[in-house]
Amino acid sequence: MRNHRENLLFSLLLFSPLLALSSVPPHSCDPSNPTTKTYTFCKTTLPIAKRVDDLISRMTLEEKISQLGDDSPAIPRLGIPVFKWWTEALHGMAYGGTGSIHWSFSAIFKATSFPQVIVTGASFNPHLWYKIAQAISTEARGIFNNGQLDGLTLWGPNVNLYRDPRWGRGHETPGEDPLHLSKYATMYVRGLQGDSYEGGQAKALKTSACCKHFTAYDLEKWGTASRFTFDAVVTAQDMEDTFQPPFKSCVQDGHASCLMCPFNRINGVAFCGDHNFLTKLAKEQWGLDGYIASDCDAIGVMVGMYARTPENATALALKAGMDVDCGTHLQKHSASALGKKMITEEDIDRALRNQFAVRMRLGLFDGNPLEHKDYGSIGKDQVCAKEHQELALQAALEGIVLLKNTRNILPLSKTKVSSLAVIGPNANNASILLGNYQGPPCVSITPLDALRNYTSDIKYVDGCSNAACSSAVGIKQAEEAARSMDHVVLFMGLSLDQEREDFDRSDLLLPGSQQELITSVAKVAKNPVILVLLCGGPVDVSFAKTNPKIGAILWAGYPGQAGGHAIAQVLFGEYNPGGKLPVTWYPQDYTKQVPMTNMNMRADNATKYPGRTYRFYQGKTVFPFGYGLSYSNYSYEFNSKAKKTLKLVGLKAAHPTSHYEITEAKSKECQKLNFNVTVRVTNHGTVEGRTPVLLFLRWPNASNGRPRKQLIDFTSVHLKAKETTPVEFAVSPCEHLSRVTEEGKRVIDTGSHFLMAGENEIEVTVAERGKNEL
Ligand SMILES: *[C@@H]1O[C@H](CO)[C@@H](O)[C@H](O)[C@H]1NC(C)=O
Ligand SMILES: *[C@@H]1O[C@H](CO)[C@@H](O)[C@H](O)[C@H]1NC(C)=O
Ligand SMILES: *[C@@H]1O[C@H](CO)[C@@H](O)[C@H](O)[C@H]1NC(C)=O
Ligand SMILES: *[C@@H]1O[C@H](CO)[C@@H](O)[C@H](O)[C@H]1NC(C)=O
Ligand SMILES: *[C@@H]1O[C@H](CO)[C@@H](O)[C@H](O)[C@H]1NC(C)=O
Ligand SMILES: *[C@@H]1O[C@H](CO)[C@@H](O)[C@H](O)[C@H]1NC(C)=O
Ligand SMILES: *[C@@H]1O[C@H](CO)[C@@H](O)[C@H](O)[C@H]1NC(C)=O
Repeated sequence: MRNHRENLLFSLLLFSPLLALSSVPPHSCDPSNPTTKTYTFCKTTLPIAKRVDDLISRMTLEEKISQLGDDSPAIPRLGIPVFKWWTEALHGMAYGGTGSIHWSFSAIFKATSFPQVIVTGASFNPHLWYKIAQAISTEARGIFNNGQLDGLTLWGPNVNLYRDPRWGRGHETPGEDPLHLSKYATMYVRGLQGDSYEGGQAKALKTSACCKHFTAYDLEKWGTASRFTFDAVVTAQDMEDTFQPPFKSCVQDGHASCLMCPFNRINGVAFCGDHNFLTKLAKEQWGLDGYIASDCDAIGVMVGMYARTPENATALALKAGMDVDCGTHLQKHSASALGKKMITEEDIDRALRNQFAVRMRLGLFDGNPLEHKDYGSIGKDQVCAKEHQELALQAALEGIVLLKNTRNILPLSKTKVSSLAVIGPNANNASILLGNYQGPPCVSITPLDALRNYTSDIKYVDGCSNAACSSAVGIKQAEEAARSMDHVVLFMGLSLDQEREDFDRSDLLLPGSQQELITSVAKVAKNPVILVLLCGGPVDVSFAKTNPKIGAILWAGYPGQAGGHAIAQVLFGEYNPGGKLPVTWYPQDYTKQVPMTNMNMRADNATKYPGRTYRFYQGKTVFPFGYGLSYSNYSYEFNSKAKKTLKLVGLKAAHPTSHYEITEAKSKECQKLNFNVTVRVTNHGTVEGRTPVLLFLRWPNASNGRPRKQLIDFTSVHLKAKETTPVEFAVSPCEHLSRVTEEGKRVIDTGSHFLMAGENEIEVTVAERGKNEL
């Protein structure tokens, strides 16, 4: 999205009492309206397609064109109110968008602020993701029912892969693994749209979810490259096994009712104008039931760069299959594009059919929304409800990752720690906890506030005034505080000044004098110090990893409104941390080896390109994907170590005996190969805890672009001290044991495959047909 800051200011200025809140939320087909109540499009017993056709048949050309932007004006003649498509809900109901909430001090002026997505990603807990989305859609309906929202189309989740550690928006996503992202997309969409955890679809959309940015969008502004002009050159292999899976799952498993196309070009083509991707792939092949929105102003941005005239851009987008222009380009230029015969009225009708079908599925053409059978009774008491705020705390707790804990310096003892020095620019700033795409939180408690509950003897020194830490003048004072107290906790990291929309980082180090501040304080402290990192993206903290005077490192990301409490609970052992890094933490050197503009996932030894993410990167890491300690010690063992042999009866050999092509991973032949494996997870520690359980696949080698390893499933389990529990995973070989060739085709190799959990692995052999008959 563009112009976020402006929007934020705008919505802050707009609050109450200027705004008259209507008691009934905006809707069409009001039963008391004598004109519209007899119209076919208001007959709730008819199929939606029929109602939509009737509505469109009644609209004039001007009315049709007026509806093509994200801010769709009312059509009073037909009893249709204003509809605003652009509402943000990435990790809570947020500021921003033309459809932003009318936050009002006389009504609802806060909403639950869950952790930034990268933090909840670190929990590897799909149930948690679902519950968060469920809470957010409940709050959305509560706000809508209270007359403070002009739409119910939420533009999240962001499921672009966190490809490069410098990406300014990486923290909006759950991480760098395609399967992890796919599950996140599915669960978040189900929660937002009111479907069941297992995928049973609700009768009416609770809210409409939008997976963005379809696809291969993950660069803001880096050097001279900008997202508005960038041409992402993506191989067929990377496209198929890395960039597309989250969007495919979003549509096929999550039944998302929207995809958003990005600003950038892909392999030379402006994505929002690409018929092959928007219509052929997303709508026809995947079966998207809903609409495609453009990123905001993405159509306008095409002009001059990719399209010659405004009408050219209009035609490209509409012909490609884009349905809602976030912006005003189509509203301004469709009439002249029609006049020049570059588009037809049918192109516009198609977009409107997709739009109004979603508005009807939301129940907005069924009369008074407060009488809606499923969602009418959700009241404003649901916004910031106690359960939602507790869930925000739970999510922060599950997402915090313990990166270092030498000689068990953590947890701190609640009885023995008498005094604490709290140091750092991120210790006492509540807005740092929220990340971007944030809303006004229900409560604001900084880590410093929360720590005051555990010991009354606290000395707080910021050391520098913000994360940029451009001056070292505060170091003396910080050293003094450190010298005089039992323990030191440093709150360092980044802020949105270093990583945000339209702004990528140029390096991975802690900014300014942060490193100097940390090491100076560590040097004079009585005990090894504790470093808490508040940052979305990874930082190279090798210096802290190796410094024995730094006893513990905790990554808390941007943990949301309850982040202060969550950090304090982890520091003092009230919660046993179990989060695992959802992204690789690279050394600073990586930024010299890899231009951000190189989209290739796979390493290339000829050019010394080291590859990206744990699946392909060949170099050293600061901390690897999936890394995370806890106050317990867990083991993960396969129930049976027996080697397994699979016979690929019924699959077509692509190449004599070396691999088989998979055309449909859910085919009957494929289903027959499914099997289960059980991993026994044991908590060897003396405290209870929750741990993610990750199941990986590896091949005998990583030749031909095979990943070094690949996450194939995961879950999260809670275990009492000394408890063991079995975790059963369903393996579908066509999906999980397959790989993608350079041509972008999915195949399964014959020969050995290894399933890995913790330090253990079991072998699964794929037999050639006719051989190894059992
Ligand atoms: C722009 O539109 C004109 C008129 O239809 C057409 O001839 C031309 O190919 C289009 N160019 C681009 C770049 O879309
Ligand atoms: C908190 O941090 C943000 C981001 O750096 C900054 O804009 C804001 O002024 C800070 N607030 C306070 C109270 O220091
Ligand atoms: C302090 O502890 C009390 C009791 O457990 C709790 O209700 C309160 O929210 C805590 N306050 C802070 C700032 O942590
Ligand atoms: C590339 O080099 C790395 C590191 O030297 C090595 O491990 C890997 O096998 C090589 N890959 C190929 C495809 O030759
Ligand atoms: C954790 O437990 C396993 C299994 O009992 C043991 O092999 C390992 O050494 C333990 N590790 C630590 C760090 O205690
Ligand atoms: C790598 O593994 C594949 C699949 O098991 C096998 O076909 C190939 O011969 C192996 N290549 C090398 C260089 O070991
Ligand atoms: C395989 O595991 C899945 C996931 O736990 C479970 O739902 C299913 O019942 C299991 N199937 C068999 C045959 O045990």
